Amino acid sequence: MATHHIGIGMAGFGTVGTGVWEALERNSQLISNRAKDAFSLSIKKAAVRDITKKRVPNAPDSLFTTDWMEVVHAPDVDIVVELIGGTTTAFDIVAEAIKLKKPVVTGNKALLAERGEELFKLSSEYDTPIHFEAAVAGGIPVIKAVQDSYVGNRIETMSGIINGTSNYILERMTCGGLDYLTALKEAQELGYAEADPALDVNGWDAAHKAILLATLAYGFTIPSEQVYVRGIERVRTIDIDFATQLGYVVKLLSVVREHEDGAIELRTQPSFIAKSHILSSVNGVFNAVAVRGDASGEALFYGRGAGKEPTASSVVGDLVEAAYTFVHTAGHRGFLPYTDAGKLLPIEETETSYYVRFEVDDRPGVIAQIANTLADDGIGISGTHSPVDPENPDKEFRDMVFLLHTCPFGKLTETLAKCEALDCVKDEPVVFRIEQLATS
Ligand code: HSE
Repeated sequence: MATHHIGIGMAGFGTVGTGVWEALERNSQLISNRAKDAFSLSIKKAAVRDITKKRVPNAPDSLFTTDWMEVVHAPDVDIVVELIGGTTTAFDIVAEAIKLKKPVVTGNKALLAERGEELFKLSSEYDTPIHFEAAVAGGIPVIKAVQDSYVGNRIETMSGIINGTSNYILERMTCGGLDYLTALKEAQELGYAEADPALDVNGWDAAHKAILLATLAYGFTIPSEQVYVRGIERVRTIDIDFATQLGYVVKLLSVVREHEDGAIELRTQPSFIAKSHILSSVNGVFNAVAVRGDASGEALFYGRGAGKEPTASSVVGDLVEAAYTFVHTAGHRGFLPYTDAGKLLPIEETETSYYVRFEVDDRPGVIAQIANTLADDGIGISGTHSPVDPENPDKEFRDMVFLLHTCPFGKLTETLAKCEALDCVKDEPVVFRIEQLATS
């Protein structure tokens, strides 16, 4: 017989919330057994927008309210789960719960990446933890790995695919021949996308997760406005086809890397990854994060990065950890900064080779003009390509691709601005990094 009956209050009861309810129903006995009957867990109150919507079969109507304050203040709610997303109301919910000394479980990466410092200060002040495994890579326990298991390592790199929606879209465009919008719709129907899918496709969902990982690894507050982020909105089938021809796969990649002088490189953008690298096989909604520690060497964390049950798995894991607060004390679990010396490497100083696609007017001299502009600035070209229709070799082309040797991103950006100013170039060039990832 459980000693403590611990009540859960849910702010938000959508896809993931339903998954949490179902997982608790299905596995409550298992959880109690594993906790040696120290506690039992049950959802007591849930704040939702539409109280009339039927969500789970066995839930009494009295479970639901539209008022999150009622949930947070309910006397039988001991732990608050925040799953509404966003950075305003979600902030108020988490802050209110902490002030009432109720531990919080959240999957909200935007909230923690943008306003984590304020919340974790509060968490420390009130000695009440915030748990956030579900905020990064859905069902993969990478937060606990970086925060706890790797605590004895200097983290050298963390690179990975950490947005399931964009990975799903890129794979469906690559293997299923789908266009971008149809693939996005599919991802939404499967419950992978955020309430606002713009964050998935503009790169910010992945960037928020990378910021969280970097903050845990390097101990300083990372201003999100200094982080370089590009999404997949401008990726076209032509880029995917070129990548395939060249032996690469297009992925939305987040890179975190510590340089010798201590500066932290942190960026998210569509990238070419060699087909031979393990990350190129991470498909669909799967995520993978390759973490390299100075002692551990490289480890790959791979699994489902989004979706109802995988994300619920992380929330329930955190709920059980939070429940131990009532048995033992847990204190704060966040990432209060421990150094003022941390600094981000300016994106201009980061270096890779590049694939650049120019939208051009097909007229004599176009290739020469772009090539000369690149050459004048000392940027080497390793290959060029434009699609030729073998049936109609005189057909005008619209896209011209250049593969460029490694140079600083700042130099590339300046030169591309000159290219964009050429009469024959019609739009801002599209840039992909060609990532050379460690293989051992
Ligand atoms: N929308 C997110 C993704 C869900 O697609 O990865 C998990 O954060």
